[in-house]
Amino acid sequence: MRYFVTTAIAYTNGDPHIGHAYEIILGDVIGRYHRTFNGNAFFLTGVDQHGQKVQQAAQKIGVAPYDFVRGLTDKFLALWNKLEIQKDGWAATTDPRHKRAVQKVLQELYDRGQLFKQRYSGYYSVRQEQFLTDKERNEQGEFGPEWGEVIFFEEENWYFPLAKHKEWLRNFVETHPHFVIPEFRRQELLNAIDRLSGDLCVSRPKERLSWGIEFPFDPDYVTFVWFDALLNYLTFAGYLAEPGSGLPDFGELWPCRGHIIGKDIMVPAHGIYWPIMLHAMQFSDVQMPRLVVHGWWNVEGHKMSKSLGNVIDPDTLADAYGPEALRYYLMRDVVTGHDADFSEERLVLRYNTDLANDLGNLINRTINMSQRYRKGVLAQRNSPVAGFAEHTSRALANYRDRFEQYMVNEAIEAAWDLVSRANALVEQSAPWHMAKDPGQKDQLDAVLYTLAETCRILALLVSPILPSAAERILSQLKASDFRGTAWGELPDGHVLGLPTPIFPRIEQINDY
Ligand code: MSP
Repeated sequence: MRYFVTTAIAYTNGDPHIGHAYEIILGDVIGRYHRTFNGNAFFLTGVDQHGQKVQQAAQKIGVAPYDFVRGLTDKFLALWNKLEIQKDGWAATTDPRHKRAVQKVLQELYDRGQLFKQRYSGYYSVRQEQFLTDKERNEQGEFGPEWGEVIFFEEENWYFPLAKHKEWLRNFVETHPHFVIPEFRRQELLNAIDRLSGDLCVSRPKERLSWGIEFPFDPDYVTFVWFDALLNYLTFAGYLAEPGSGLPDFGELWPCRGHIIGKDIMVPAHGIYWPIMLHAMQFSDVQMPRLVVHGWWNVEGHKMSKSLGNVIDPDTLADAYGPEALRYYLMRDVVTGHDADFSEERLVLRYNTDLANDLGNLINRTINMSQRYRKGVLAQRNSPVAGFAEHTSRALANYRDRFEQYMVNEAIEAAWDLVSRANALVEQSAPWHMAKDPGQKDQLDAVLYTLAETCRILALLVSPILPSAAERILSQLKASDFRGTAWGELPDGHVLGLPTPIFPRIEQINDY
């Protein structure tokens, strides 16, 4: 089995923003962690190309929907490349392989009597693309501004009996505490399940929305966008794939170990529709995926929005400060599950403090001193400085434990505990004094070896977050072939390379 992790697929109705970048970097970091520390992973991400939002955005500028989404998809791909995203699968919902598999799912549900056609008249929110009931009215008895334009109409559509599965879902979520992390989001989901009622409209007549996947048994209709989008997690994992499709082996991947999503799409899409869809498709309880729900990046306490003009563009930031500064900041300055406030000053401060000063200087000093006092040659004859091997294995265990829970900021803190200990060792042992005293030769060897070995392990620990920097560190340590996490891999007589700053300081904010 491979550790299967996904992100939400982004709507291609506008440019990628910092929220998208955060989520994809989180997915990439989790994927890289499992590849390095547990031997394998499969990271799937992609773009949600169908639906009303996309059709409208294309219409607005007078471009065919397909051309419109192609242009934006290329933008997303170029940015993910720049941000060093290592993806194993790319879920683009206009992919014919996906469309075929979605149609097979629809057909199967239909054949098993899980879909029915019905005429409905009522209120419809254009913005949220859904029918509204009295439940959606506010205290004044009106549909609030969050629903945008609300129209009344009558339409015949295909329905999926959602609430029929309410008891199953409640029981499943109650008895599977790991279905949602963090725990407080599971409580929110349980509350939402209590309010669940009715059927879900899963089709749109083509005359109203043509940009979608056609119903195989009723070609006048296309699928509701969530029914199409959620299925990407299965179809791009190889579910119902045809031979020679180039898609992975489904049995190797499913169930997904973490659907990384934002808090806004837990209820109802991922927490209600998705498990119920899977259940209706006869997936068993042990085949249910897990949801990892993250918070939002805001700006000065406000939600990012085009109208406020405060949308943060990750592309510009990556150009100004480098992809590594951005990756590090987005992983370090937020607690998974909670909101965070984006600040360019903090990005620069984090980089200069944690990377340029703490880690960068440690590596630089370590290699420098070894070169100066020992011509770069390490001696492993003596045991490491007391307690260091133990500190390292404790930090590693802590780091791994935090990573398994998607708490990347805490995993980074665990690694930085080691950075601080190593920097303190330099200060306390003062190798520059030891070097002058021939009586302390062995101790100096032990300190230099301990520091180099710690730097090597630190390179591995930061590698999911800072993949290229980790390679630069290993290369300066001439340790690219020593990738185990156990203490003591660098052999006696190992020769270090020459030091050049790994993280040059950022001197100026806003230099673009
Ligand atoms: N297309 C749907 C998801 C379908 S998944 C089967 C969608 N797309 S989206 O482009 O609007 O959002 C993509 C992801 O970005 C979601 O998980 C969403 O929560 C996340 N974010 C959007 N804005 C965000 C922030 N400001 N901060 C963090 N994440 C944010 O929803």
